[in-house]
Order: sequence, then structure tokens, then C-alpha cells
Amino acid sequence: MIIYLNGEFVPETQARVSVFDRGFLFGDGVYEVIPVFGGRPLRLAEHLERLTRSLAEVRIDNPHDRSGWESLFTTLLEKNPGGDRSLYVQVTRGVARRDHAFPTGVRPTVFAMVNPIVPQNPAVLEQGVAAVVVDDHRWSRCDIKAITLLPNVLARQEALDAGATEAILIRQGLATEGAASNLFVVGDGVIVTPPKDRSLLPGITRDLVVELAQEAGLPLMESTIPEQSLRVAEEIWLTSSTREILPVTRLDGRPVGAGVPGPVWRRVHGLYQDYKA
Ligand code: PDD
Repeated sequence: MIIYLNGEFVPETQARVSVFDRGFLFGDGVYEVIPVFGGRPLRLAEHLERLTRSLAEVRIDNPHDRSGWESLFTTLLEKNPGGDRSLYVQVTRGVARRDHAFPTGVRPTVFAMVNPIVPQNPAVLEQGVAAVVVDDHRWSRCDIKAITLLPNVLARQEALDAGATEAILIRQGLATEGAASNLFVVGDGVIVTPPKDRSLLPGITRDLVVELAQEAGLPLMESTIPEQSLRVAEEIWLTSSTREILPVTRLDGRPVGAGVPGPVWRRVHGLYQDYKA
């Protein structure tokens, strides 16, 4: 694998970052994950906008303008050919002696790599996946795509330990999102997803799903989702750049709706597949 690191494209074995990097010491950085289907990054402008916003929110200077990022990604993709892939980009505050305060005169560490997107197992789409409900132990700025992901890691592992695929996070009685995905629920035929606020990541897939559903005239509401609504939902979906739209058919060991991927999911999944083709 060829890695982009601080202006150079190098084999992964030669990509080295200092132990004083603030990403390593403090989790002081942000990241993006951009899916690439058929050689084309999906919703690149939106991903770059979110990266720009994350950087601004944590006060790290954006190391590239839009065309700089685009040419970096184009070269990196050329150097790592393959099928469906995702671009991972990470920017940390840089390398400095350990001190919580911002260092002066350092340049951000910029790292990017390409990973394969494993095609969804057809059985998953036929049967759906299991999820569990877990307390949200994250901070109060979940809208920033920060690399500081320990609570997300613990939540995902809790799900795996329970034989499930993803954790749905509960904050003050409301279901916000998954450990690494956004949440949609269908109740009384209406698609509901929580409004974008500081309690969740403004997912690019989420926004696309909202757009596609609205264009198709499907009833959709951006509204908070009490934990109890999950228990009586007709359908639950989880969305992300790398996992697209996953139907959740078991929640905490009990069937969701009829216990199979629902008709509204099938429709929206189809719209998404057409869009990305
Ligand atoms: N995660 N919410 C959280 C907490 C996430 O980490 C992600 C994505 C999403 C979905 O956002 P998007 O549709 O823009 O991918 C929501 C990425 C894929 C990751 O951390 O690997």
C-alpha cells in the first residue's frame, strides 16, 4: 500500500510518524472517510466541506484547499488501484513536546491511505444485522469528526461481544446514532432520523439518504428518536460511507418489525445503489 504522509507518497513500511505527534499523545486531530465507487469518490465536495468544518472547529489550519485535496486523492487512488475503496484522511495538530496547550510554529501532520471496501455479504442484505442499545459515553461535540474515538470503540466492541454488528447509542433517553453510523427508523410508514446537532456526526450518507427519500416523495421527518421508539419501530437502518444502508432486523435479541429487511429500506437501498452507480 502506498501512503500519503506530509507531502510524500511512500510505501506503508516507510511511513513514520513521531511518538510526539499530538494525534498519538492526545487524540488531537480530525479525520474523514470518503467512499470511492467505480473509481469516483462519492460526494467528495460534501466530505471536503465536513473536513474543513472539523478542522475549523478544533482550530487546525486546513493544510490544503479543495483542489489540493482533490489532486492528492487522485494521485493516491492511482497509486493504489482496486475496486471499491475508501479514502481515509487524518490531520493532527502536529509534532511537539507534550503539553496540552497548542504548540506554536508546528505544521499539521497530514496522512491519507486507501482501504478496500468489502462488498456487503448478500446474506446480510437478505437477513439484516443485529444491533444492541448502549449508553452514549462520548463528549458533547459529536458533530466534529475527531480521531478521539475511544467511546465509539468500546461501544462497537460491546455490540460485537453481544453477537451484534453495531451499537445504537442512547443519550438522555434519545437514540442518536450508531458507534460509526447514523440512525434511521421507520414508524407508521414515516422515515425518521434525528436532526443534526452536536449529539451526532452529520453523516454524508445520512444526508444523501434524506435527499433520495425526499426526491422519491417518501414521507420523512427529522425528529428526535426516543429509545422506546426503537422497540416499536417497523424498520431500523444504519448508514455510513463504508456500510451504505444496513437494515437492522434484531435489536437487543428481539426482532425489529417483521424481523426481515423492510419494504421502505428496500426502496431506499435501491435508490442509493442507482445513485452511486
Ligand atoms: N464513520 N456517525 C459516526 C459516529 C461515524 O463514525 C460515522 C462514519 C457516521 C456516518 O457518516 P458518513 O455517512 O459520513 O460515513 C456517523 C466512518 C465511516 C468511520 O469512522 O470509519
